[in-house]
Amino acid sequence: MVTTTLTKSPGEAAVTLRKGGLVAFPTETVYGLGADAFQPTAVRRIFEAKARPADNPLIVHLHARAQIELVAARLPPVAERLLEQFWPGPLTLILPKHPDLPGIVTAGLDTVGVRMPRLVLTRRFLKACDTPVPAPSANRSGRPSPTNWEAVEADLGGRIDCILKGGRTEAGVESTVVDCTVSPIEVLRPGAISVEDLRAAVDTVQVPVADQADTPRSPGTRHRHYAPAAEVRLVDAPADAMPGAGHAYIGLDAPSTPDAFGAVYVEADLVAYAHDLFYLFRACDDAGIEVIFAQTVPSAGLGRALNDRLRRAAAR
Ligand code: TXA
Ligand code: MG
Repeated sequence: MVTTTLTKSPGEAAVTLRKGGLVAFPTETVYGLGADAFQPTAVRRIFEAKARPADNPLIVHLHARAQIELVAARLPPVAERLLEQFWPGPLTLILPKHPDLPGIVTAGLDTVGVRMPRLVLTRRFLKACDTPVPAPSANRSGRPSPTNWEAVEADLGGRIDCILKGGRTEAGVESTVVDCTVSPIEVLRPGAISVEDLRAAVDTVQVPVADQADTPRSPGTRHRHYAPAAEVRLVDAPADAMPGAGHAYIGLDAPSTPDAFGAVYVEADLVAYAHDLFYLFRACDDAGIEVIFAQTVPSAGLGRALNDRLRRAAAR
């Protein structure tokens, strides 16, 4: 057990990271769990704290473009176009790895994922760190990603050195991961930036078909993910959800008999649904809900990422 310090100071959190500590921090997507990219012993502790499979590479967080050359061997022109349009923001670019970046960061792959977060508090923290910061989502492996610091503390308290306290995260789903080492570029994980937005910026974007999402190319997508303790069952419409005291319903459309459920959450739109999904998964667990009926959504825009997270949470 270690003592987990809570702080609102990005400078204090950065000092802990520079000393080899593990620091959880907010971003505009979900909270991440970071270490210094160039201290392999510290990076190894990320995998231990999360019980993360060793074959799952980490995304490296940067505060300045100039840091790319510390972790990537080169920047393909298409990647440059994407970062000019979407950074800072929830877009992760897969690039050829720099030989000096410790292999533990990329789980031995010869590519590296990089992203520059948009949230001001994150940017202050990363600037104070003054080193690239590999960080997966700050949850126990397999659990829903944390969208507030309380969820980080519940999963990782006593296992990490510091939590930088921010508010609830804005997007609620993770960054979009795009492989820029292949041509045409390929979406490895749908996320907060939509495929439609990517297609408006570059000519051709490949997207694997949803049901083949277990592509071995993005190792993390092989593992079961984002699951609450409650069983998640997907429904097309609220009428397909089974009422019951231990049952919850989450969706865009309202059920006709809300009082027949233990909990009902009707979301105003896709943005609100994505913002709340992981938060509500955890709220249902805290309330002892046994089955969560979650409504799937049209698979356009943010709906693609939302359906991806719902499908993975429902997979047994
Ligand atoms: O929004 C986000 O991306 C959050 C915040 C903290 O930045 N981070 C996050 O990290 O979601 P994580 O580790 O939970 O998910 C990273 C995903 C995994 O599916 C991983 O396999 C994939 O990105 N990934 C990372 N590096 C990769 C690489 N070199 N090649 C292929 N996939 C990679
Ligand atoms: Mg994760």
